[in-house]
Amino acid sequence: MYTRIDGKEVSAAVRENIKNEVSALKAQGITPGLAVIIVGNDPASRVYVNNKKKGCEQVGMNSFEYALPEETTTEELLELIEKLNNDADVHGILCQLPVPEHIDEEKVLNAISPDKDVDAFHPVNCGKVMTGDYRFAPCTPAGMVEMLKHYNIDIAGKHCVIIGRSNIVGKPMAMLMLKHNATVTVCHSRTQNLAEIAKQADILVAAVGRPKFVTADIVKDGAVVLDVGINRMADGKLCGDVDFDAVCEKTSYITPVPGGVGPMTITMLLKNTLEAAK
Ligand code: GUN
Repeated sequence: MYTRIDGKEVSAAVRENIKNEVSALKAQGITPGLAVIIVGNDPASRVYVNNKKKGCEQVGMNSFEYALPEETTTEELLELIEKLNNDADVHGILCQLPVPEHIDEEKVLNAISPDKDVDAFHPVNCGKVMTGDYRFAPCTPAGMVEMLKHYNIDIAGKHCVIIGRSNIVGKPMAMLMLKHNATVTVCHSRTQNLAEIAKQADILVAAVGRPKFVTADIVKDGAVVLDVGINRMADGKLCGDVDFDAVCEKTSYITPVPGGVGPMTITMLLKNTLEAAK
C-alpha cells in the first residue's frame, strides 16, 4: 500500500495561508506585486505565465505582465528589469525561461535585484541557498520539501538520491535536503552505477527530463519517490520521469504527474513574492 502525494491538496493548504497573510499586508496598505516577463511565443511558457498570474489573483496579489516580442534585445530587457527593480509596487520579478537564443540569459538573470528575485536564480541567492541562509527558496525544490513536511515524512538521516543536476532543480534540491540533514547523492548522465545508487534511496527525486526513466527495478521497497518530470507524449498526455504504474506499489509515498510536484512550484513562487513584500 502506498500513499499518493496530492500536490493540489498541499498547494491549496499553503495558498490558504498565503492568502491570509496577503490580507493582513493589504490592511497595512501593501499589496504584494509580481512582475512576470515573457519574451516570444513559446506555448508552454505562455501556459506557465498564465498560471502564475492566476495564482497571484487567487491569493489577492497584483501581477504585472510584460509580454515582449521575440526580437527583443538583451539591452531592452535589461532596461525593463532596471525599471522594475526601482518600482515600489513590484516586489517580485521573474523572467520566464527559456528566453530566445539571441538573448544573454545570464546577463538577464544577474540584472534582477536579489531582493526581488523570487525564482532565486541570481548568483547571490544561489550562494545563499548553498550556505543554507536564504530568504528565497528555489521554488520546485522548496515545493518538494513542503510536500514531505505536509505528509510528515522524515528527512533527517535519510539517503536522498537526486537524478538530475540542473541549476533549477537538481543542485538546489541537494542543498535543501542537506539543510534538512539528509545524506545526499546526485546522479546524472555520466553516473556509472546509477541503478545501484538509486536503489539505495530512501527518498528518490527524479529530475531528468526523460519519460519513465525510473523503473521499478531501481527503486527500493518503501522508498518515497518524487517526480519532477513533465514530458509531453505523442498522444498529448503528460508523463513524468517515473514509470508510475510500475513503481507505485514498491513505494511508501509517490507523486503523480500531473498533480504532484507541478502545482507546488507556483505556490512557492507566491510564497517568495509574499516574503519579498514583507
Ligand atoms: N521555466 C521553467 N521553469 C521555470 C521557473 O521555475 N522559473 C522561470 N522563470 N522560468 C522557468
